[in-house]
Amino acid sequence: MTDRSVSGASTLALATLAIHGGRAHAAPGDAVVQPLVQSVNHVQPVGTADGVLYTRYANTPNAQIVQRRIAMLEGAESSLVLASGMGATSCTMLSLLRPGDHLVTSNWIYGGTRKLFDHELPAMGVTVTSVDPTESRGWRRAITKQTRVIFLESPVNPTTRVLDMRPLTALAKESGIALVVDATFASPINFRPLEHGADVVIHSATKYLNGHHDILAGVVSGTESMVDEVRQKMMVWGQAPDPFALWLLERGLKTLDVRVRRQNQSAMRVAEWAQSHPAIARVHYPGLESHPDHALARETLDGFGGMLALELAAGGDATPQVLERLRLITHAPSLGGVDSLVSEPRYTSHAHMTPEARAAIGIPDGFLRFSIGLEDPDDLIADLAQALE
Ligand SMILES: Cc1ncc(COP(=O)(O)O)c(C=O)c1O
Repeated sequence: MTDRSVSGASTLALATLAIHGGRAHAAPGDAVVQPLVQSVNHVQPVGTADGVLYTRYANTPNAQIVQRRIAMLEGAESSLVLASGMGATSCTMLSLLRPGDHLVTSNWIYGGTRKLFDHELPAMGVTVTSVDPTESRGWRRAITKQTRVIFLESPVNPTTRVLDMRPLTALAKESGIALVVDATFASPINFRPLEHGADVVIHSATKYLNGHHDILAGVVSGTESMVDEVRQKMMVWGQAPDPFALWLLERGLKTLDVRVRRQNQSAMRVAEWAQSHPAIARVHYPGLESHPDHALARETLDGFGGMLALELAAGGDATPQVLERLRLITHAPSLGGVDSLVSEPRYTSHAHMTPEARAAIGIPDGFLRFSIGLEDPDDLIADLAQALE
């Protein structure tokens, strides 16, 4: 029988893979939409330990299809979906690091990841060194004989800085170190780190991959053996996703390409408009020539993304007034969904830092992070204009 499933190496475009990747070809009478199988347990073959399907193992039907699809989008051998983005990062670190090992991380990372690296890993006997990611010699200096992992996030939350992975891939390869990249801000439509030499890519699937603000999930992609190690940790640390979240994630993926492309365009429009607004001191968006990493972003990303940040000229005292006047753009944490959101990192991801420490990494008071959604960009601009009046 001819295998007509959409799997394995594929020449299909990302938009097509996002809809069909990893699914079996439907036979007459089959549902067009993958059914939700909420059952935790499944009938087991007699006389063998193989073929056990269980929700905590993330191998039930809704998990399998979405994992195959994400692997195809990333160009990975394998992907694993976990209960959250933090579950994905934690289980990846648990699988790569042992007591006595060393992790080198970019200083510019999401606040939750920061807590994991600053508190949880050291409590397990792992040492952690943070480096300024723009100083390429800093990475090399930080490496020791015990270094097992280099971690970075790109584009960076919330500054939208884009990091150059090239010096790091060479360094990681020559020293046998795993290079792990959190590419949540980009989604695989805009950036696929495995194509640039990363060993593992992590996403908070809560964000662009699902895209509708209604599930929590994370994903790890890489080689089969690497992903299998993460799976072992996920199973015992109880980090598997729920079938309904997986079903919603698969549904969200179908529109990933069209959503992200539209968000790229709309964010560019808003960023260009904001550049000349007198109430805005600075616009952070990789698509603007004024962005410090614009040339690198042009070279390595397929799109500049839906995330941007604005610094109010009036500083931190002006933010409550602006946020309260916004009518369409919602003041809420998280990102990557259909609704446009705004948040103040000083009260969310970077609340644990002093104002001085935040300013030192490019997040002064008055810094607002925007996740541009799918509304008409003219309406978003009008909303911002009236709020800034
Ligand atoms: C860049 C980045 N990585 C990881 C996470 C963690 O994801 P989750 O909230 O799904 O655990 C977040 C959450 O905001 C994030 O922004």
